[in-house]
Amino acid sequence: MKNIKLIVTSTFGFESVVKKELIALGFDHFIVSDGKIEFDAAISDIPKLNIWLRAADRVLIKIGEFHAADFDALFDQTKSCPWNDWINENSKITVIGKSVKSTLQSVRSNQSMVKRAIIKKMQETYNKEMLPETGPEFVVQVSILKDIVQLTIDTSGAGLHKRGYRVDTGDVPIRENLAAALVLLSFWNKNKILIDPMCGSGTILIEAAMIGRNIAPGLKRKFISEEWAVINNKFWEDERLCAIKVILPSGNLRIFGYDIDKKRIEGCKTNAKNAGVESDIIFKDQDIKDLEVEHENGMVISNPPYGVKMARESDLYYIYDSINAVFKNKPGWSIYIITSDKNFPKYFKRAKPDKVRKLYNGTIEVNYYQYQKK
Ligand SMILES: C[S@@+](CC[C@H](N)C(=O)[O-])C[C@H]1O[C@@H](n2cnc3c(N)ncnc32)[C@H](O)[C@@H]1O
Repeated sequence: MKNIKLIVTSTFGFESVVKKELIALGFDHFIVSDGKIEFDAAISDIPKLNIWLRAADRVLIKIGEFHAADFDALFDQTKSCPWNDWINENSKITVIGKSVKSTLQSVRSNQSMVKRAIIKKMQETYNKEMLPETGPEFVVQVSILKDIVQLTIDTSGAGLHKRGYRVDTGDVPIRENLAAALVLLSFWNKNKILIDPMCGSGTILIEAAMIGRNIAPGLKRKFISEEWAVINNKFWEDERLCAIKVILPSGNLRIFGYDIDKKRIEGCKTNAKNAGVESDIIFKDQDIKDLEVEHENGMVISNPPYGVKMARESDLYYIYDSINAVFKNKPGWSIYIITSDKNFPKYFKRAKPDKVRKLYNGTIEVNYYQYQKK
């Protein structure tokens, strides 16, 4: 029975990718706004979404939405929300918040008002003055935008990008959910060759291999809502068992990762092993200038060094030249480059990109330059 409202959050720019993922998982009728997708679901969908979503940040339960421009309105309407559907007398309650263009500007005061209202509701429900807060944690978010309050409970805990496989990260790795989104936004599928010639910790390729083998990204990690009594453990167990059953066998992917730094390549192998895709990717330490491709068709998805910390300008232009030199006589190859360097298209001597998408790597604005095969 679809009797709860969920909000899946994502980094700005990923909404369309996440929506496609939700449709593939069987959901429909979405309300999409910046970084949020809301839809009806059943409680048993919480494990499925946390375990399967690749490009999203978090899965939240929407508890209430109302107008409030003073603390009395915030307290009363928060108290009237159905907290006891989720939280019990032992639950530890943490309230976080944000406020944008609203009368109730003090995030700290809003948080404490919301916590007081929830505690009051619990005291009345259980007829107890003292609530020990020794049980599993519930993280409530109070977000206020233009005096409209939205109350949610987080079901994910650590952000969904934390798959748990990455122990070696290198200097500036991209988040796992960004890497997955890059692959999902490209036209790569498990039958195509994929190369990342500057693969760092291997994130893009590991995410691609997991997509290619239908490995659920959250299969090996824990989520905060697994501790809650209100979600039957069987839902989690069943979802994990199903996810294990649908994994495709290894041995059919053609994915290759290179990096000039030998240490990074060792790290990639460890990360790929942790993710269960070590036999799906061939990693090798190699300078991009020495890369040779024999096949007429394939795809490159890569995240070259950028920023003051990572590289000097002349090094970057050398790298862009090298990519161009390898692929200029290979019209069957699509090249996808993500970088914050706005000079990239100028120095990467190809025709104009077919598409440029503005995305975010954490808080850094980046562009995803997409050159399709000719
Ligand atoms: C921004 S990092 C890639 C991060 C990667 N996407 C990840 O998630 O970990 C860029 C990588 O390019 C590598 N690199 C720099 N110059 C290179 C070259 N000439 N040939 C190959 N790799 C190079 C660096 O060692 C670094 O690991």
